[in-house]
This record gives sequence, structure tokens and C-alpha cells, in this order.
Amino acid sequence: MRPEEARSILEWYIEAGVDECIENTPQNRFAPTPVAPEPVNTSPSTPPADRVVSMTLTASPSAAIVKAKELAEAANSLDELRKAVEAFDGCTLKKTATHTVFADGNPEAEVMLVGEAPGAEEDRQGIPFCGASGQLLDKMFEAIDLPRSKFYISNTLFWRPPGNRQPTPEELAICRPFVEKHIALIKPKILVLVGGTAAKSLLETSTGITRLRGKQYSYRSPYHDADIPTFVIFHPSYLLRQPAQKRLAWQDLQEIEAFLNH
Ligand code: URA
Repeated sequence: MRPEEARSILEWYIEAGVDECIENTPQNRFAPTPVAPEPVNTSPSTPPADRVVSMTLTASPSAAIVKAKELAEAANSLDELRKAVEAFDGCTLKKTATHTVFADGNPEAEVMLVGEAPGAEEDRQGIPFCGASGQLLDKMFEAIDLPRSKFYISNTLFWRPPGNRQPTPEELAICRPFVEKHIALIKPKILVLVGGTAAKSLLETSTGITRLRGKQYSYRSPYHDADIPTFVIFHPSYLLRQPAQKRLAWQDLQEIEAFLNH
């Protein structure tokens, strides 16, 4: 390829917003490469441990969903669910993540928030919403007398998508059984879906956040036999980029406060 061709392709990428050299599916560059062709194994013995890991990490999405459902079903406490999520190898995002980000806040709280996915800071610390958007989220909820000690918070994904890209429908489907069981174990009085990804995924709709916010929904987890009143709010990272929308976010917070105090 001539240098000017390469340059024009790069310029096109930059204009299209492609600013990270990453693939949708993470590659494990640290995986050992076999030095010699593997002998044909005709014995029924168990494969070596490193091959078991790579087989489970590349299992088909439908097999991963089945496994996630099985594990979610079997978890009878938050601690068991956390351990099941941490041990789960069916979501390829785990390969590039530093930490599994499970939850934060008060598991006894009446209010449960579900966001999208851990960002860079959350991946570093293993705590949901501990970066810049989390600081804004905390301020927003403190304004209605709900500091983090009065709510519980998790995400639709437990591992950071590389480069903070949008979660894929496949990743959301694989983690969903754990999220559904998480909500069923907390049994919150209200559920708050933070941002369009969480709202669309849990309410199973393609409607955008601007039309979803400002209304009340009810959510029923397959692992819980009651409907949970549910609210949708703008994601704080969107509010950091679009501060004019804080006015609408404040209205939504007041609705939540009124519901809790009525
Ligand atoms: N954004 C999210 O949706 N979740 C986090 O934990 C952090 C940022």
C-alpha cells in the first residue's frame, strides 16, 4: 500500500471516531503458544488445566448463557452469587479485565441501582461507579438524602469492555442471569436503571433513554415472584458531557424521592 493511501485510510478512521486499535472480542496475547504440534490424544483422560481454561473462555455464547443460568439459579446468597460470578469464565471480557466488579453500597437498602459496565477506574479498583461518573452519581443521590450507605449498586456487566466500548447484546445476555439473580437476592423496594444500556437491557426494549426516562415501570426478575417499581435516569457520564440535561435528571430524582416518601 502506498503511504498516501495508508494516510487517507487513517484520516477516514479518525473522522469516523475510530481512535482505539481494539477488537470486539479480546485476544489473550499472554496465552502460551504451543512449541510443537500436539500429539493426537486417543485416551479419554482429562486435558491439561490451561486447555480447560481456554476451552471455557471460548465456549459458545449460548453455552455460556446456559452455564450462567445454572450458576445463578444455584446461588442462594449474595456471597454465593459473587463467588459464582468471579469463577465464571463464559464472558470473554474477563480476559482483558483487571478485576471482576460485583457491587457496592448497602445490600439491605431499599434502593438498588444498576448501571452499564465498569470503566477504567472501576476496573482498577474493583468497585462500581468509583470514577468521575460515580462521583457525580453520588452527589445526585446525596441531594435526595440517599448517600451510598442507603443504596446498593451494580452493573449489567461485571467486567470492563476494552476501551469503554458499548457492551454487545451477547455480553449482556451472558451476564443477564447473574444480574436477574442479583436483583432477586436484594429484593429492593425500587430499582433505578442508570443509563440507556441498563434500561434497554432489563426492560427489554429498544426505546432510547430520552423517551424511557420520566416514567415508572415495573420489573420482574425470573428469580423473584414480585414486580419491582422501576425508574430510569440519565447516566452520569452523559450528564458530564451534557450538563444542560441535569435539569431533567433532577426531576427524575425528585420522582424517586417522592415515591420513597409517599
Ligand atoms: N459507568 C457504569 O455504568 N458503571 C460503572 O461502574 C462505572 C461507570
